[in-house]
Amino acid sequence: MKYDTSVIYQIYPLTFNDANKDGIGDINGIKEKLDYIKSLGVSFIWLCPPTQSPLKDNGYDVSDYYKINPIFGTNEDYDSLIKSANEKGIDVMMDLVMNHTSDKHEWFEKSIKRIKPFDEYYVWRKEPVPGFDSQFENTCWTYVEERGEYYLHQFSKHQPDVNWENPEILKEFRKIIEHWVAKGICGFRFDVVDMIGKQIDKGIKIDVDRSFELLRQLGEGIFTNNKLLTVGECWSTGRTQGAKYTSGENPVLSMVFNARYMFMHENGSRWNRKPLTIDSLVKYRDYMFAQNTILKHTHIPNFIENHDFARSVSRFWTDEDNIFEKSKLLLTIHFLKRGTSFIFQGQELGLPNAKYSSIHEINDVETQKVLTSETPENIFFGTRDNPRKPIPWNGDEFNKVIPTYKYGDRFIVKNEIVNLDSPLNFWKQLVLWKQQFSKLFANGKYELVMEEIAGTFSYTISNDAQELIVATSWFDSIKFDPNGFTKLFSQNFEDGLLNKYGIYIGIKNK
Ligand code: GLC
Ligand code: CA
Repeated sequence: MKYDTSVIYQIYPLTFNDANKDGIGDINGIKEKLDYIKSLGVSFIWLCPPTQSPLKDNGYDVSDYYKINPIFGTNEDYDSLIKSANEKGIDVMMDLVMNHTSDKHEWFEKSIKRIKPFDEYYVWRKEPVPGFDSQFENTCWTYVEERGEYYLHQFSKHQPDVNWENPEILKEFRKIIEHWVAKGICGFRFDVVDMIGKQIDKGIKIDVDRSFELLRQLGEGIFTNNKLLTVGECWSTGRTQGAKYTSGENPVLSMVFNARYMFMHENGSRWNRKPLTIDSLVKYRDYMFAQNTILKHTHIPNFIENHDFARSVSRFWTDEDNIFEKSKLLLTIHFLKRGTSFIFQGQELGLPNAKYSSIHEINDVETQKVLTSETPENIFFGTRDNPRKPIPWNGDEFNKVIPTYKYGDRFIVKNEIVNLDSPLNFWKQLVLWKQQFSKLFANGKYELVMEEIAGTFSYTISNDAQELIVATSWFDSIKFDPNGFTKLFSQNFEDGLLNKYGIYIGIKNK
């Protein structure tokens, strides 16, 4: 399928590019940058929800699924973006939030008043049911005086969970999907979609079989008939469980995001960064590598960044020395393998986390929950504001919602474009190799090499005709002999030594 070796570029509309310079990124801003996006080898763009929203969770609280948020532009601007993107060979995916809506959605306002047919659109109970929690707050059941009942919200109280046991909900979302498909959308990224199968009265948060069944009904006659690309965000589902959605005779999704590895390399967590060690690198390497074998028959979405995690160079390392080299090391390891490449805006620039002087600068709703329980240092490291900072096109950007961070001059897009050593230009090269050796990446045999040497993550990919080697060094200098390989690229490789942050990529014909 087309998407197997494709690149999908994720855009955070609020901070990507502001065409009318009112301090908020917009749809026309994305349109303006289509040539830039195209230059990254991208064939799909995925926009975080651009639909009407009070922005309590920056768009993941939708108050009208059919309307583009006026702060981003009009529905016509969006149609025109799809058209212009398509003309350049880029398809547009939509981010659809089906687990919850905004509390300002008409459905919720009417549900409170028990107006039919909306009265059972949400999860209302006389008493809170145990077994659930909220990602963003200390309670997940909020009482509404007017209705005399509690509603469930697994995120903020402004994001009431939708009641998927009500068949009307399925009909509503089928209608929404059909609407956007008719507008030219080529696929969807379904937000926290493994949560829709929740079994409230049994206290079951994640029920894979039930979510599978709901997705099947949702997609029947729509997903495959329209050849849609469907990507499920399934945080709580590990890689084998996740594969249930994508493999077998009747897969219900094209791909599933698994985030289990996001902090594995450092034994850390969102709010607690630990330095990368040789041991944690091994653990991480083995997990990442096993994806290729365990998920042999499914499409793997390769990603290490999105709008929900600290920037990758800042997760792996605490300082910004040699940052371009580090960034290329991460891009190499994560994208020179089988699967679809997902790249999040700014990742191609090697952007690090921002720096803050006060917790009051933070916008993100998730961070609010830990403002008093975590140290400022942990908060600044983990906050989702980091990846969401405005893209430094020229270095003079301004944003009303998420304050701009002044990245150094070397990260400014126009500077990276002309700097042959920039992560940006390296990324473009990676994409070309992926296309050039697509058969190797898709069906080759993957083998770890130099496993006995501490501090490397190295492997070969081979088929009958060719063999590709990716050798990397993360800590000290290691001996490396490119014996018989022709060099495609190297970094910090000299006199038979692959030095710290070293990369060697080579190819040989058999
Ligand atoms: C997903 C989104 C995240 C959002 C949450 C609630 O995890 O990626 O940004 O806050 O769902 O919708
Ligand atoms: Ca704007």
